[in-house]
Amino acid sequence: MLTQEENELICRVGPGTPMGNMFREYWLPALLTEELPNPDSDPVRVLMLGEQLIAFRDTNGKVGLLQNNCPHRGASLFFGRNEESGLRCVYHGWKFDTAGNCIDMPNEPAESDFKQKVKATAYPTQERGGIIWAYLGPRKTPPPLPDLEGNMLPGAQAWAYQQNANWFQILEGHIDTAHVSFLHYGGIQPEDVPQGSFSEYQLRQRHAHFEVIDTEGGASYAARRPAHDGTVYWRVAQWIFPSFSMAPPGVLGLGKRNACEVPLDDHHTITYQMSVSRGRPGGNGPNATFNPIQMQPRTTDWYGRWRPIVQPDNDFLIDRSVQRANSGPSGFTGISGIAMQDAAVTSSMGPIYDRSKERLGTSDAMIIRVRRRIIAAIQAHMRYGTPPPGVDMPEAYRVRSGGVLLPEGSDWVEATRELRQAFVEHANLDPALNGPL
Ligand code: FES
Ligand SMILES: [Fe+2]
Repeated sequence: MLTQEENELICRVGPGTPMGNMFREYWLPALLTEELPNPDSDPVRVLMLGEQLIAFRDTNGKVGLLQNNCPHRGASLFFGRNEESGLRCVYHGWKFDTAGNCIDMPNEPAESDFKQKVKATAYPTQERGGIIWAYLGPRKTPPPLPDLEGNMLPGAQAWAYQQNANWFQILEGHIDTAHVSFLHYGGIQPEDVPQGSFSEYQLRQRHAHFEVIDTEGGASYAARRPAHDGTVYWRVAQWIFPSFSMAPPGVLGLGKRNACEVPLDDHHTITYQMSVSRGRPGGNGPNATFNPIQMQPRTTDWYGRWRPIVQPDNDFLIDRSVQRANSGPSGFTGISGIAMQDAAVTSSMGPIYDRSKERLGTSDAMIIRVRRRIIAAIQAHMRYGTPPPGVDMPEAYRVRSGGVLLPEGSDWVEATRELRQAFVEHANLDPALNGPL
């Protein structure tokens, strides 16, 4: 549990808040490349860390991320004309480039030098692997982008979805492997999956013994379950500052997926998924299939991007007859799709749950560790300006998650050191080991 003060400290991310300030030290996904498909395409409203911004791609293909309100008298630049390497406010014609410089001020006399004195807040952007990254922080020269293989390897792709909950509530779901045997697979029996696969071990003993370690950029945890013939099944997962995670389905050494929670504001979050094999968020086993989230039609509203059709207001389209039958991957919940099962429980807590009311058990060890690490980093950043972990260490993001079989009595930390390293190929590993889940 957390005190209400600690809870507020982690959850509030607007400008000037301690966690908001810490978040701003990092590069974060702001949009998918496909949201600004070509030069001079339509400007997009982007809400991020409680700030209203307008994204546009200029004539040369460069992406700008400007404050919403025009520096002149505040008209929204959303209505701007995206033309000839700049976004022109339609109220009096001031025009801004991607760096926020005012490059034309046609309502002032030609001899006026006022336009040299005007600058719009503009945040640096970079594009990589289908994601437009933004840096909302204080440094003149931003730090490097994190080394995320799901965003860097050839064929890297990304997808996104929005949820009605605080960023940390969603992250906690992504670093909680204990729920998987229930929420997602409660309707599947061990006999339903290939014998000798990780899926079988996970279903045969739904509880697990958890161990957590600190890593350079965050924390890693492993869930231990008995396997066969003196071996143990370890399910290893990663969290990296501030909101990057790697889900554990699949075989350790093969997984190349990363996720990142980006707060729109305190109550809305977009999760960005990055993968070299788009279409396999549920594992890298041979039967893993892409389960795209069906999206509502996009709107230009601040909350109009990447909204799934299933939502709190339609009870995530729960089907009670499916739930009653309790069979198959939707059986436990009656809700279809892993990401939407997660979304249902996460948003059902309310946008920011009061964590002083929780009762945490041994399977919550990772959540407890991550909270402690974040609170310590916020306090050091707030009091002494200490750069938080990972900001200047892109290599700290070179990690992997997944399952592994180890001999009884092995030290998983030592035994998996190389398998937990990203950008290493392991041709001898068989993805079929995982099974279908
Ligand atoms: S408000 Fe934008 S140019 Fe006047
Ligand atoms: Fe989940």
